[in-house]
Amino acid sequence: MEQFHVAIDGPAGSGKSTISQNVSNETGWQHIDTGAMYRAVTYWALKLNLNLADENSYEFLNKIDIKYLNNKVFINDIDLSSVIRSDDVTQNVSLVSKFSFVRKKLVEIQQNLAKNKNIIMDGRDIGTVVLPNANLKIFLTANIKVRAKRRYNEKLNNGQNVNLDELINNINTRDKKDSSRIESPLKIADDAVIIDTTYLSIRQVVEKIIEMIERRRK
Ligand code: CDP
Repeated sequence: MEQFHVAIDGPAGSGKSTISQNVSNETGWQHIDTGAMYRAVTYWALKLNLNLADENSYEFLNKIDIKYLNNKVFINDIDLSSVIRSDDVTQNVSLVSKFSFVRKKLVEIQQNLAKNKNIIMDGRDIGTVVLPNANLKIFLTANIKVRAKRRYNEKLNNGQNVNLDELINNINTRDKKDSSRIESPLKIADDAVIIDTTYLSIRQVVEKIIEMIERRRK
């Protein structure tokens, strides 16, 4: 049977990663978290102490090796999964990901990962740019309070210090940057199915998506 590509896009805290991972567990298809790759590049640029606002700084991407294997992101074979969710990375990732040089590099890797495979890929530009011919495109949304509360709970569970109002501000700022950038902004693909997850459980959203996959594969 022909390969099946699922593109899942949406703003921060809309549930993309959790839902994609659950759909991946049910289908047995690989989940690719493209946000993790933008975060890894941001982490590396911070580590190298580069001027993040200068696109030329990212030429280091020509000299490093980025891999995504078993839900983990590697640069030069170093697993960065445990360091890419820090506040420092989160606060800078939208700046890094607005540069077309950075996007071109990562989009190429993402498209190669999807070749000849069934996959679930989540991000901001999957349905619009990375996989424009995806068999199913989902755009997840939820109101800002619910999205911030989800992040708040995640951080509390990880033993991190959090302030809900600060989190709402940070998420709003990141959404604005991601939606207003010139290169591949976060936007709803014309043929995407929009799911508002504000009042839905993870299970309910996953079931909806599985149903859509089954219907489209018939
Ligand atoms: O999980 P969360 O929604 O917080 O973010 P993420 O998926 O880890 O993505 C982090 C950031 O990477 C986003 O805020 C975007 O700036 C950028 N990103 C992007 O530009 N394009 C993608 N396909 C995925 C992420």
